[in-house]
Amino acid sequence: MPKQNIIELKDVVKEYRLGKTIVRALQGVSLEIKRGDFAIVAGPSGSGKSTLLHIMGALDRPTSGKVFIAGKDISLLDDWGLAMLRRKTVGFVFQTFNLVPTLNALENVMLPLEPTSIDDIEKIKRAKELLKLVGLEHRMLHKPMELSGGERQRVAIARALINNPEIVLADEPTGNLDTKTGLQIVEAMRKLNIEEKKTFVVVTHDLSLLKYGNKHIYLRDGLIEKIR
Ligand SMILES: Nc1ncnc2c1ncn2[C@@H]1O[C@H](COP(=O)(O)OP(=O)(O)O)[C@@H](O)[C@H]1O
Ligand SMILES: [Mg+2]
Repeated sequence: MPKQNIIELKDVVKEYRLGKTIVRALQGVSLEIKRGDFAIVAGPSGSGKSTLLHIMGALDRPTSGKVFIAGKDISLLDDWGLAMLRRKTVGFVFQTFNLVPTLNALENVMLPLEPTSIDDIEKIKRAKELLKLVGLEHRMLHKPMELSGGERQRVAIARALINNPEIVLADEPTGNLDTKTGLQIVEAMRKLNIEEKKTFVVVTHDLSLLKYGNKHIYLRDGLIEKIR
C-alpha cells in the first residue's frame, strides 16, 4: 500500500447477525485516508457511518475485505495485537463525551495513560498542554458537571490525543451541541489536525461541517455514494 495512506479499506463488508436476520451494514466499501487528511463521513442515519468508523479504528473486524491501519493488515493481528494497535495509533471522540463524572478535566485527559516510564510530571505537562490547545487552560480542575457541553467535548478531544495517536476518529462529535458550539468543536479539531499533524476522520450528518474537510465521503445504505 502507498506509504502516505494511513487507513486503507478494500471491499469491506460488515454484517451483523440479529437472531436469524443478517444486517449488511457495509456492502463493499473501498477508500483511502492519507496522513494529514481531515476527512468527513456524511450520510443519513443507518447508512453505516458508525460501523465504518469502528472498522477504521480497529474496534471491530470486517466480515470480509481488507483493512490496513498505519501500514498493518489487521487480519494478521490477533485480538491482543488489535488492542495494541488501537491504543497506540487511534484516539476516539464520541457524541456523548464519555467523561468520568468524578474526575476533573485534567484527570479525565490523563485517564488513558498507562503507567509507563514517562514520569508523572511529564504526563501532567502533556495533559495541560493538550487542554490549553483546546482552549481549556482555565478549566483544568473543573469536573464534567461544572463544564458546558462544548467544554466537555474539548476535554474528550484532549483525552483522545493523550497517547499521541496518529489518527483521531470522531463519531458525531457535535451531535449533542448547538450549531455554534459544534462549529467551535470542529474548528478545534481542525487546529489539532494542522498544528499537531493528526489525521482526522469525523462522522457527521450536519452538512454545514463539510467545509472543514479536505475529503468528503458520502455513505448510503452501506455503500459509498461518492468521495470527493
Ligand atoms: N451491533 C449491531 N447489531 C445489529 N445491527 C447493527 C448493529 N450496529 C449497527 N447495526 C445496523 O447496521 C446499519 C448501520 O448502522 P450504523 O453504522 O450505526 O449507521 P449510522 O452510524 O450511519 O447511523 C443499521 O441498519 C443498523 O441498524
Ligand atoms: Mg452512527
